Amino acid sequence: MENQPDLIIYNIGQLLTIRGATQKPKTSCQMDDLGIIEDGAVAIKEGQFFYVSTTEEIMDIYDSGTIKTINASGKAAMPGFVDCHTHAVFGGNRAAEFVERIKGTTYHEILKKGGGIVNTVNTTRKLSAENLAALTKKRLDDMLLHGTTTVEIKSGYGLDLMNEIKMLKTIRHLQKTHCLDIVPTFLGAHTIPAEYKYDPDAYVGLVCDMLPFAREYAAFCDVFCDEGAFNAKQTEKIFLAAKNAGFQLKLHANEFKDIGGIPLAIKYDAVSVEHLDCLTSKEIHQLSGSKAVCVLLPGIPLFLMQNTYAPAKEMLEKGLSIALATDFNPGTCPCLNMQIMITLASLKMSMTPPHAINAATINAAHALSMANRIGSIEAGKQADMIILDIDDYQQLSYYFGINHVQTVIKKGRIVVENKILAT
Ligand code: NIG
Ligand code: FE
Repeated sequence: MENQPDLIIYNIGQLLTIRGATQKPKTSCQMDDLGIIEDGAVAIKEGQFFYVSTTEEIMDIYDSGTIKTINASGKAAMPGFVDCHTHAVFGGNRAAEFVERIKGTTYHEILKKGGGIVNTVNTTRKLSAENLAALTKKRLDDMLLHGTTTVEIKSGYGLDLMNEIKMLKTIRHLQKTHCLDIVPTFLGAHTIPAEYKYDPDAYVGLVCDMLPFAREYAAFCDVFCDEGAFNAKQTEKIFLAAKNAGFQLKLHANEFKDIGGIPLAIKYDAVSVEHLDCLTSKEIHQLSGSKAVCVLLPGIPLFLMQNTYAPAKEMLEKGLSIALATDFNPGTCPCLNMQIMITLASLKMSMTPPHAINAATINAAHALSMANRIGSIEAGKQADMIILDIDDYQQLSYYFGINHVQTVIKKGRIVVENKILAT
């Protein structure tokens, strides 16, 4: 039948729709609202939400005897998480550096000794695209089990044309073979590779030369503008070339130090500015006049044992749009669980559960220019949704460290059932 859905999910104790912010990210008091429908239900057709309402109304409209149904048994449900900043393609791990840091060596001291990102570049360059894809597939499966339905993945552990393209090809292969939506970002400007140590500007030139090749695989270009990475002048050069090559821009800024990245991101109309752990009031003021989404990554200061968390409270008060992500990577946050980021946002940045949930869904979708398709449960949007093993959303960040995701629906298909992959 033309108006017959393929799937109905009903008896949802709290349906967090996150509705009403498809055009613009949520800010200020909009962040307090989760668009909750008590005893909610959704009808899904051809991979999209078709009708979103109460159980009573949906069961009244449709003949549930002839349609596949899921009884959510009073549990809470919400859109799948959008992890809008990760570095999920990499070889090896840096557990040994982690132990060094526990003993007192800092991240920058490890960088100076040739460790850090360059360490992972060495292990990533050695692997074939097939091996990298197999490693990454496992990570994507884990993300899905933890409720992430869209993920951005940056290149940046290749740092030469062949290896950067290898990373982007790995991502392309996963886009075709994995059910997660994957958004690739070119991050050739992640750090200066060892072979350019004495001529960083020559590497900046190489990054600019890579851009037209990378553009075939990615619509976003990111630069790590920070102490120990790229300075403002180098960042501007790459931004200009990236704009010319047709990229949308993102910027890693103020993770360790303010070196002038934010004004550049604003000048070149970046879609997002990410990290922002040491953001000043002046920059908050500058950002309040821009459209950039501020992507906060509280797993980083936690894992680096630093007490510098982004000033989320002040940012919210000044009307900035905030998104949350894991920054999953082998050096500064080997955690891919968005639920933990939501707890950290509350504990370390005083974001309430609604702030954090909006930031991890609709605002994260805006950071990827995808809010017209994902990030909320509204008719016409892609049916990406998770059912949680809790009856009140406040428990999501409260019982931290356990996986609350019981069922994952991706494009209308059940891909995780009873906490197990259904593939
Ligand atoms: O987001 N900021 C740049 N890149 C990563 C670090 C990656 C690594 O250490 O391998 C980050 O923190
Ligand atoms: Fe990062």
